[in-house]
Amino acid sequence: MGKDRIFAEPFRIKVVEPIKMSTQQERWGNMKDAGYNTFLLKSKDVYIDLLTDSGTSAMSDNQWSGIMIGDEAYAGSENWFALEDAVRDIYGFKYITPTHQGRGAENILSTIMINPGDYVPGNMYFTTTRFHQEKNGATFVDIIIDQAHNSEAEDPFKGNVDLQKLRDLIDRVGAEKIPYVSLAVTVNMAGGQPVSMKNMREVKELCTQHKIPVMYDATRCVENAYFIQQREAGYAAKSVREILKEMFSYADGCTMSGKKDCLVNIGGFLAMNSEELYQKATELVVVYEGMPSYGGMAGRDMEAMARGIYEMVDDAYIKYRISQVQYLGQKLIEAGIPIVRPVGGHAVFLDARRFLEHIPQEQFPAQALAAAIYADGGVRTMERGIVSAGRDKNTGENHQPKLELVRVTIPRRVYTLSHMDVVAECIKNVYTNRQKIKGLKFVYEAPQLRFFTARFKPIVPWEEWEGTV
Ligand code: F0G
Repeated sequence: MGKDRIFAEPFRIKVVEPIKMSTQQERWGNMKDAGYNTFLLKSKDVYIDLLTDSGTSAMSDNQWSGIMIGDEAYAGSENWFALEDAVRDIYGFKYITPTHQGRGAENILSTIMINPGDYVPGNMYFTTTRFHQEKNGATFVDIIIDQAHNSEAEDPFKGNVDLQKLRDLIDRVGAEKIPYVSLAVTVNMAGGQPVSMKNMREVKELCTQHKIPVMYDATRCVENAYFIQQREAGYAAKSVREILKEMFSYADGCTMSGKKDCLVNIGGFLAMNSEELYQKATELVVVYEGMPSYGGMAGRDMEAMARGIYEMVDDAYIKYRISQVQYLGQKLIEAGIPIVRPVGGHAVFLDARRFLEHIPQEQFPAQALAAAIYADGGVRTMERGIVSAGRDKNTGENHQPKLELVRVTIPRRVYTLSHMDVVAECIKNVYTNRQKIKGLKFVYEAPQLRFFTARFKPIVPWEEWEGTV
């Protein structure tokens, strides 16, 4: 996929934003000032920002022109109706509750569906998703296939649910204790891995037998649809738009962070087919987000999202999007860098356990690696390992995820293939110098979602090296 053929960005660049290279000395200083946490760096000090693909997309000329027709009425904005139509058309759900971003939708969904003592099964956790489930008194249960926890296992649909794990949970706690199954398409924390159509169909069948709703985390559903088109028998001739429709036919609703697939900088929604659920969501959206016709978004933002929803299902766009991620992944594989295989949809994930074999997990190897990559080349990435996993809500002990990763996340339509070449050079240089990187310890740790604001210091001082820029 994209490996054998030359491809180029399917757009021309009309507006540019200068980015600045800092000096090596400045970067080592910035990293220390940020407590070795890339979330705490200033954007102006970053050369290539691969922290996240969330809210970092470049909008098209069509979306920017939509911004100019923002109808900023408090209620009943024209742009809301455009957004509602687009979601109905492309996702296929009857009812839509707009929210300011994905976690706003997660808050509402978890609050209306979960009772204390419930269990929410999911195909690996996501940080904010699990937080809202636990905040409402549920216990999260991981039902993803075992291979997903092994960075080297080559499986085309590594996001799949292990149906036996789901059956076992139903037998153990009873279907009435499971308010819904939370199915992420794709699975961010597993490395952006997709779920097959067959698996979605089977999950739905099993849940229907037990009257358990299936709610998707649809944040990167288009990327998942593209993998189905490329990898699953019977889908090669279908458009991503058609594939998406079928995917959502096996769901009762979804939460959505528009900041990813929908090609906008802010926005989200909760969608569903049940009128009763929609009523409850409407009662809560006015408390947490705003009127049911804006949910925390400006009219102009809703218009940009409505237009982005049509752009995201353009087959040429999504092919380019995934191919760019594969391009970077392939360069790193060729250089012998340990990464999660196969390469996922939105990011290349470095395997920090194998990259930094000399640093034990309790000394935060992925956190240290992300800091080192910034110091080397001004490239900002993100820890996705033990720091992100947080502590067990009952015992207070650190969760110890098998995957200890650094996410090199590609924003949509923002960077060129030359930027990818620079990033690959930087990671290679860090790999050469890896013995100079040492473990970290906490200086500050917030009680929840600690990865955003935590501060660290080295257990023993690092020996600095000459970076790539
Ligand atoms: N679900 C998934 C799978 C996500 O990746 C995110 C956000 C959310 C839900 C929450 O959405 O940020 O709009 O509130 N992921 C970002 C990331 C933060 O960098 O992966 P949000």
